[in-house]
Amino acid sequence: MKKISIDLENTENKRDVIPIVNSYNEWDPLEEVIVGVIEGASVPSWHISLKATLPEKQWKFYQEFGGKPFPKEQVEAAKNDLEEFVHILESEGVIVRRPDVMDHNVAYSAPGWQSPGGLYAAMPRDTLLVIGDEIIEAPMAWRARYFESFAFRRLIKDYFKKGARWTTAPKPQLSDELYNYDYEEPGENQEMSYVITEFEPTFDAADFIKCGRDIFVQKSHVTNEFGINWLRRHLGDKYRIHILEVNDRHPMHIDASFMPLAPGKLLLNARRVLKIPGMFKSWDVLYAPEPCIPQSHTLYMTSPWINMNVLMLDHERVIVEKNEESITKALKNFGLKPIPCPFVNFNTFGGSFHCASLDIRRRGVLQSYF
Ligand code: ARG
Repeated sequence: MKKISIDLENTENKRDVIPIVNSYNEWDPLEEVIVGVIEGASVPSWHISLKATLPEKQWKFYQEFGGKPFPKEQVEAAKNDLEEFVHILESEGVIVRRPDVMDHNVAYSAPGWQSPGGLYAAMPRDTLLVIGDEIIEAPMAWRARYFESFAFRRLIKDYFKKGARWTTAPKPQLSDELYNYDYEEPGENQEMSYVITEFEPTFDAADFIKCGRDIFVQKSHVTNEFGINWLRRHLGDKYRIHILEVNDRHPMHIDASFMPLAPGKLLLNARRVLKIPGMFKSWDVLYAPEPCIPQSHTLYMTSPWINMNVLMLDHERVIVEKNEESITKALKNFGLKPIPCPFVNFNTFGGSFHCASLDIRRRGVLQSYF
């Protein structure tokens, strides 16, 4: 493969002291991270926006339990996994901060709609987008996630006081105009369509992934073009946002489909990324092996492909699920150093290490890798 040279002289943020919030990619040495909490999680109530992202066999659960707490034993088990994840991060020298534990089983309403509860503060990656020294609260499209960023406000205010920039994207109305209420999943040969309209900008932070000046995004059932364009204009010429074509009938969050791991190393879901963008032609590609997680394991709001939802601590160290032997081996052969962590009980709630964390500070500068 072609060596990717890094032009340190030509970077505009070259300084000795890095800002408190500083993240431009997935692989610079991780110094500080937010890890979510699972306590107080509430089953999101049934809505067309859930229907579009979930396989049919799961619908009944939300129809029946929407607005109620998730099963206690599952929450407890996920909490233990999170503690172990935090412990591993800390022993690898990373500072870990946690959002507030809140009861998400609290009803709220807005003009035109109401929600019997929220969801959780388990997946900071979904809610908050860190780009450089800025924290952006995403305009999330699920009504059950409208106030999700509030659990992180204590931390965000603190980072702001220490110099970070803080932005909330335009607060969406989430009125009925945003949703295609007659949405049906398109068939195999039909063109992809989405459950949300272009009524107003919406996106989840986890539909974006950063490679320095180049940021990749997928259109999804929560991220529309209006949302992508809002971010594009907000970030300005310093960044280039590329829309990635992803073959997924239930798209929501790019990080179980497309995971840049280090300069020159790309982890892909072979079923979903059928065309690799030309700019990656000199990169080595690893296709994620089939997940090992048993079919019988309960997974809310995700497919088993979260085996590839790994977290890079630097160019080499990568946190992987302890039982996911096939991807662990593959990552090792790809030149990385996997650190196993039990996380299957957290996986139940819809994500893995990448979703459950949010880079606050990585030691590095803004640069171009292409
Ligand atoms: N939609 C992905 C899948 O089902 C899961 C992505 C989870 N990511 C996250 N940031 N919550 O494969």
